[in-house]
Amino acid sequence: MEPLSLEKKILITAAVLALSFFAVFSIAIPLFGIGLPTCITDIKPFQKSEVLFHSPTHYEVHYVAKMWAFEPADLTIPANSTVDIYLSSVDVVHGFHIAGTNVNLMAVPGVVNYRRVRFDKPGTYDVICHEYCGSGHHHMTTSIRVTDPALGTQPSRVAAQPPTQAGHPGQKVLQDRACLACHTLDGKPGTGPTFKGILGRKEQLQSGKEITVDEPYLRESIREPTAQVVKGFAPTMPKLPLTDDEVNQIVDYLKTIR
Ligand code: CUA
Repeated sequence: MEPLSLEKKILITAAVLALSFFAVFSIAIPLFGIGLPTCITDIKPFQKSEVLFHSPTHYEVHYVAKMWAFEPADLTIPANSTVDIYLSSVDVVHGFHIAGTNVNLMAVPGVVNYRRVRFDKPGTYDVICHEYCGSGHHHMTTSIRVTDPALGTQPSRVAAQPPTQAGHPGQKVLQDRACLACHTLDGKPGTGPTFKGILGRKEQLQSGKEITVDEPYLRESIREPTAQVVKGFAPTMPKLPLTDDEVNQIVDYLKTIR
């Protein structure tokens, strides 16, 4: 066999290098979950933030970046959820980095960037703008709270609530159904709105409407939890098979939580 000419050697070396380059990419992209930004303005143009509920473990969030905030401002989802993030900007170019993850997107006006993220570990994830966007840039943050659904059944968490009106039948229903895992009685933040002072409280709904919480609203929210969700909360509450008596007991009890 004739020895290879120099030209052929160079051609073969170049081909091997090019192939290994593609091989490294095709292995590394799924391995490290590298997301490539896409331009899909034609499909999902929006200027309005939104949280869409697909299932208890699948959410779609439309983030809108603007000087100098992200909307929705705070997001709460249960652990082991998949979130489809669509990101756009209404003014200038912003960054969107979820600390502790490799999610790193650009918010570009007129462009919608997409990334699917799975949140396994409970905790609070800070989202920061990493593209200089003016005097408020350094304060442009939001957060994603990932709650542990398992805590819902842990009696220690429920028992940690301060004892109020002990022995009220409505309180027993709330405890038995693990409602208190998400709704606190003492005003502390939770996965759902706190029960403290709930009756008569003004709340802004996901729809933008402002309401004063009254008995009909409470009853509806117990029966149809996702019908009118308070702004800033994910529609994660399940429908519970409660009897009319139990609903009455809950409402009676909530009236006493001031
Ligand atoms: Cu937005 Cu920096």
